[in-house]
Amino acid sequence: MPYVIAAPCIDVMDKSCIDECPVDCIYEGERKLYINPKECIDCGACEPVCPVEAITQDRRVAAEHADFVEDNQRFFTEILPGRDQPLGAPGGSNKTGPVGVDTPMVAAR
Ligand code: F3S
Ligand code: F3S
Repeated sequence: MPYVIAAPCIDVMDKSCIDECPVDCIYEGERKLYINPKECIDCGACEPVCPVEAITQDRRVAAEHADFVEDNQRFFTEILPGRDQPLGAPGGSNKTGPVGVDTPMVAAR
């Protein structure tokens, strides 16, 4: 059950969550961050540090943010605008660097 980042992160991007994650699986888009569901070990360390409470376990995401569960996954499994292949599981946000684009759902908000 991975953790998920929802709408409150958009245009806030506090990034305190990145410092807490022991496996470096929180990746940076243009206006929001995304947790890699294949790499997240469900430790929960990121959840309490987010000042806007954007992070929750996927099965506890509020109903109004339910579409963010799938959208966090899409960031890694689908080809993002301007790229030629999906991100997949690159093994660390730090070495990957800012991805610089968002999923179409986030970009449209
Ligand atoms: Fe976003 Fe909160 Fe992290 S605003 S960058 S999910 S600390
Ligand atoms: Fe990292 Fe949060 Fe998962 S700290 S391992 S993204 S629960």
